[in-house]
Amino acid sequence: MKAETKLPTGEDLLAEINRLRKEKNAIILAHYYQTPDIQDLADFVGDSLQLSQMAAETDADVIAFCGVKFMADTAKILSPEKIVVLPDMDAGCSLEDSCPPEKFKAFREKHPDHIALTYINCSTEVKALSDVIVTSSSAETILQQIPKDQKIIFGPDRHLGGYLSRKFDREMLLWPGVCIVHEAFSETELLKLKEQHPDAPIAAHPECPPTIVDHADYVGSTSGILQFAETFEGDTLIVATEPHIIHQMEKALPNKNFIGAPGADGNCSCNICPYMALNTMEKLSACLRDLEPRIEIEEGLRLQAKKSLDKMLELASGTVGQGDLGKV
Ligand code: 13P
Ligand code: SF4
Repeated sequence: MKAETKLPTGEDLLAEINRLRKEKNAIILAHYYQTPDIQDLADFVGDSLQLSQMAAETDADVIAFCGVKFMADTAKILSPEKIVVLPDMDAGCSLEDSCPPEKFKAFREKHPDHIALTYINCSTEVKALSDVIVTSSSAETILQQIPKDQKIIFGPDRHLGGYLSRKFDREMLLWPGVCIVHEAFSETELLKLKEQHPDAPIAAHPECPPTIVDHADYVGSTSGILQFAETFEGDTLIVATEPHIIHQMEKALPNKNFIGAPGADGNCSCNICPYMALNTMEKLSACLRDLEPRIEIEEGLRLQAKKSLDKMLELASGTVGQGDLGKV
């Protein structure tokens, strides 16, 4: 098999990736939670909304998606004529895993008067069972466009759903999923860190539980947190999301100090997303060479899932890159 062919290393590996992306007319998209080496070589680094928009607009023949599977699936749903490859097909997501389509379908059937507003971190099947998809940067804008008397099921992230529900005083039926990465931050350790840096604001992703979000000065998506990092006053920021995003902050603001919020062991190592970490430079090079592993989606399912994603893109237009959920 080609995949077993020995790959170059170091500078040669980067040169090989550059050669392959030209040869295959490929675009490399990366999420902020990828390792710095991957972020630095990507054609575009962004949050979930920006990456879907980029996937929908690119004229490349191949999208090499350095993120997790639901993100690569989204790219394929929006750009079916393109080849979409994911360096490691096991790069899943605990939120997607928490929401099996048959259980979600049964839940919807129990609540026929509710619409399903669903976080993009879910399977294609769950997208097909949903009315509108949201990302953390578009959720607020989209929720505000839904009439107040419309009943809502929000899944699969109960923390993002709970945060929106509290902020907008809007009751929603919440699916009980969590992100294992954001769930691992420790309130006790965060408060200890805050004591050491009393002037440092805390920026948190809304996938964090209320025990973390309630201490935050800013709550928003990855792109929103990056914007906050560029504008906050002071020299130190505590960052409560997956720590690889700090790479972008250190590049943009080398004179400021960014500290990852701690987990229960007092450091942030438990907050590295184990799924994102499966993608490596070696696997990226191999997937560009082999155009495998490739995302394939049955056409009927794709068209059904595209409806809720198109609705998101339509309702979110104008919010591009703002990524701002603000503060409850
Ligand atoms: P955003 O980049 O859209 O904030 O999403 C964060 C995340 O957890 C992706 O899995
Ligand atoms: Fe899923 Fe959490 Fe990893 Fe994002 S950080 S991919 S939500 S497990």
